Amino acid sequence: MEYYGTGKPAGAPSRMVKRLRTFSQESKISLQISRLKSYESPMKKMYDVQDYELAPNYNFPDAFSQLVPKNTPEYVDKGEHYVERIMRALYHFKQCALIGPSGTGKTHIVYLVAEIAGLPMWEINCGLQTTSFDLFGRYVGLGKENWVDGQIVSWCRNGGILYLDEANMMKQDVATRLNPLLDTRGHIVLNEKDNEIIQRHPLGFVVISMNPFSIEFAGTKPLNAAFRRRMNAWITFDYLSTGPNINKDEVALIRERCKVSKKVAVQMVTAAAQLRFSYKKGDIPYAPSVGDIANWATLVADGISVLDAAEETVISTTSDDTTTQEMVRRIVKSATAAEPRLEAAQDA
Ligand SMILES: Nc1ncnc2c1ncn2[C@@H]1O[C@H](COP(=O)(O)OP(=O)(O)OP(=O)(O)O)[C@@H](O)[C@H]1O
Ligand SMILES: [Mg+2]
Repeated sequence: MEYYGTGKPAGAPSRMVKRLRTFSQESKISLQISRLKSYESPMKKMYDVQDYELAPNYNFPDAFSQLVPKNTPEYVDKGEHYVERIMRALYHFKQCALIGPSGTGKTHIVYLVAEIAGLPMWEINCGLQTTSFDLFGRYVGLGKENWVDGQIVSWCRNGGILYLDEANMMKQDVATRLNPLLDTRGHIVLNEKDNEIIQRHPLGFVVISMNPFSIEFAGTKPLNAAFRRRMNAWITFDYLSTGPNINKDEVALIRERCKVSKKVAVQMVTAAAQLRFSYKKGDIPYAPSVGDIANWATLVADGISVLDAAEETVISTTSDDTTTQEMVRRIVKSATAAEPRLEAAQDA
């Protein structure tokens, strides 16, 4: 399983969800076979996580090896040690919540943690209209043998990281069924399957993520209180650069990944930082992530002008609405016309 790193706006359909859905239907055949994991992530050495081994000697069914992420890119932070903090929270509590604006790398980091720990990843975007059948399971024909586990039940039986993206958008019926799984009861009751009780796997971890609920973030809603109570640790994310603060590591990441000049990289990050500021104020519906800046820079490195490349990337990604696009265009133009504040990104 590769991390796609699309930088998609919140709520966009996830290819992964579709793949997992198909996968969970195929998986029941090979549940019995297991083997020792052999892949060790090169990323493990980059983070200080040796005290938080999540799944030592975990034997996972062969069918799930493809759900362990591979080749996830490095996660850059400003000294917050996010990878370590998430692994520590999972080590002690088995579950944690990530909160932060769209595009701050929450999904990226969960893939990275799953890769480092060697755990299968079960990703559910709660903002999509995924039905309770998809999540818990269903009969696909007549007869009891025709039951197929949904993603949550597969995770519960086999372990790994259950990642609930946009958890505050979760439908009430799903949230209610998850509650006993997330507290000390640690089980799920399948009423649709003769009330079968499934215990949460000892290596069943949960990460939820969401955008913060505030008037600044249009479209968000508060997390259900029962759910909030069950999360033991909360980790807050933010953009690397926002408003006047330009982060040199973000500039370096764009330069190195996309092979653009330092000047162009600083201009792009400056534009993105201003757009993020506008997004936080509620003026625009989405602001560029590191991934979106990288898309923009990739086109520039291919010879397209900075403004033309912005049209196809950061301007169109923000919204379909022409007035909003014009607002973004103005910010991009002024940030890229100005002499870049190279000193803002000293060592980049
Ligand atoms: N700190 C970072 N280091 C490296 N890449 C990052 C970082 N933050 C974001 N990215 C990149 O930006 C893009 C968006 O990240 P991601 O999809 O993980 O954000 P998110 O917080 O999950 O957003 P949403 O709330 O919309 O789901 C990805 O391509 C990701 O790899
Ligand atoms: Mg995400």
